[in-house]
Amino acid sequence: MLRRPRRNRKSEVIRNLVQENSVTVNDLIFPIFVIEGQNQAVEISSMPGIYRYSTDRMLDEIAACVDLGLKAFAPFPVIQDAKKDRFATESFNPDNLFVKFIAEVKRNFPDVVLMTDVAMDPYSSDGHDGIVDNGEILNDATLEILAKMALAQARAGADIIGPSDMMDGRVGFLRNYLDSNGFQNVAIMSYTAKYASAFYGPFRDALDSAPKFGDKKTYQMNPANSREALLEAELDTMEGADYLMVKPGLPYLDIVKSLRDNSHLPIAVYNISGEYAMIKAAAQNGWIDGERAMQEILMSFKRAGADIILTYFAKEYAQLLKR
Ligand code: PBG
Repeated sequence: MLRRPRRNRKSEVIRNLVQENSVTVNDLIFPIFVIEGQNQAVEISSMPGIYRYSTDRMLDEIAACVDLGLKAFAPFPVIQDAKKDRFATESFNPDNLFVKFIAEVKRNFPDVVLMTDVAMDPYSSDGHDGIVDNGEILNDATLEILAKMALAQARAGADIIGPSDMMDGRVGFLRNYLDSNGFQNVAIMSYTAKYASAFYGPFRDALDSAPKFGDKKTYQMNPANSREALLEAELDTMEGADYLMVKPGLPYLDIVKSLRDNSHLPIAVYNISGEYAMIKAAAQNGWIDGERAMQEILMSFKRAGADIILTYFAKEYAQLLKR
């Protein structure tokens, strides 16, 4: 035999020499959940180890993460039912929980990068990402709300705006609106290929944001489609997106690879709540080694071509690297 691939697997040092990919804290964005109040920490039952924190406690959590080298976060607000309405008006209230949280984080940690969520669902009494009119999701009227929401976040100091709503034309609309208000340097990470997925369940528990009726299939993508992701990527690129994201992660690695091969923009992938819950549940039952599964999954995203990984494992992985 002339070719013996096992020679390159002979020892750990050799395996390290030929290793093609790696995951570092620099690649990670940690999604976090913010609630009202003081000194609040409420664990999300379907996401063991992940808490909804009030702003004061979240600042402590961010400090702990920064010590581990994690410096990018994607916050999501938990909005009280009384503040939700059809038009998500709370989302652009300049005094809302989220905007105050962004300002507070940037004041305490100027180097921390915040990628902030732009979508109506946390604030919508209908639990949808757009305005609902007789059961229909209105696209263009929703854009106006998203723009006001994005501007409020940019004013508070958001570094990257993350539209997660899947309305048509929103990247271009937000880009124009931010630019004409002097926020040329605020970036946009588009949820480019966001699929109508069963894996969002635990996130909707965390935010109490499940749709009150119907589903999200008229705006989120059909899991059967991959060419459509390239169309979305083309549009987002033309409209000025700075990063393209694929979501969920694990069941859509082929989409990550295909965007990587077809775009020059940085590619992000969102390792979402249901993927996290699945690993935690199996590990808690002793069915798999959760720590090794986490490492293998994060590596799979890099191998598929992602530059950036949004993951609820971020802190645990950073702790592991530190050991
Ligand atoms: C909605 C939104 C969702 C997530 C982030 N933003 C879920 C949904 O579309 O209902 C899910 C993230 C996760 O599951 O971790 N704007």
